[in-house]
Amino acid sequence: QMSVHQQVDPYKLVGAELANLCVEIKQEVVTSKHELGEIAEYYFDGKGKCFRPMLIMLASKALNFHKTEEERLLDSQRRVAMIAEMIHTASLIHDDVIDESCIRRGKSSVNNIWKERKAILAGNYLLSVASMALARIGNKDVVQVLSQTIEDLVRGEFMQLGSKEDENERFKHYLTKTFKKTASLMANSCKAIAVLGELDEDLIGVAYEYGRNIGLSFQLVDDILDFTSCDTLMGKPTAADLRLGLATAPVLFASQEFPELHSMIMRRFMQDGDVERARELVAKSDGVSHARMMAEQHCKEAVRLLQTLKLSDSRRALEHIAYLVLNRQK
Ligand code: FPP
Ligand code: MG
Ligand code: MG
Repeated sequence: QMSVHQQVDPYKLVGAELANLCVEIKQEVVTSKHELGEIAEYYFDGKGKCFRPMLIMLASKALNFHKTEEERLLDSQRRVAMIAEMIHTASLIHDDVIDESCIRRGKSSVNNIWKERKAILAGNYLLSVASMALARIGNKDVVQVLSQTIEDLVRGEFMQLGSKEDENERFKHYLTKTFKKTASLMANSCKAIAVLGELDEDLIGVAYEYGRNIGLSFQLVDDILDFTSCDTLMGKPTAADLRLGLATAPVLFASQEFPELHSMIMRRFMQDGDVERARELVAKSDGVSHARMMAEQHCKEAVRLLQTLKLSDSRRALEHIAYLVLNRQK
């Protein structure tokens, strides 16, 4: 049970900084009145969750406080938050092309409005803007750490195209993929801001591990919500993973109870009736609650890691993020 006393609202604590984030990203992205800029800024409408920037800014403040007793956010750390959101958004624009998805963040997706070719280019463009902003920070280690996340995003997405023959390898494959496609960006962004704050090596490690655990939990919950939530609540298609051929944690756990799922997983739910049957079996199984327990474990670990840091409002807010991740509805 996560403690909810003495909680600090994470979004409130960095509200002012977050409010500026989309405006500043738009300034980076829109260099002229061209369509490319218009597409690239489309999702920065101030309505997104901005989960990553929020996490990165709070981690910065908590780490800075630990080192200097001042909860100030360095300009370079703020820029990491911007860059992470740009990389993330670029990956979503490409993801919706790959998944042929028509809604994102409660509105029509980029590929749906401007079609695939322009969506691919807009994603690439956003990535190039993020790369330039990254170079401008002027720290070689930070360039390397954040470039790693781009490689991981691509590799994670690529891993998802294949299925593992061996049942025992499947869960490992899923966890590695989950780290690469979601946790790496959070882990490495936290590492980057710790490097910029000039924290000791062990605290850079704590920051990385906090981001990694929150990221894993975040994706596990995402995979659960794909089974339990609905499109309007999520602002994107749900019940989509099976149709895309993806076996996520709830199905993988369910397959331990219902072995007939194994062959469906292997053929990526391609046969008539597979998707419906698999959903039924997952609903009958403990798959969702198993996946949830795993998400809870990672959040617990994230909160435990924070105990290394001096107590501050930001640290409290980071603890509360773990609670938000587990209880989010979208
Ligand atoms: C969303 O997953 C997708 C990701 C978290 C990563 C996507 C990465 C790429 C497409 C590789 C290209 C990367 C860059 C940096 C351009 P999902 O489809 O499971 O979730 P959804 O329900 O939000 O669509
Ligand atoms: Mg998708
Ligand atoms: Mg996808």
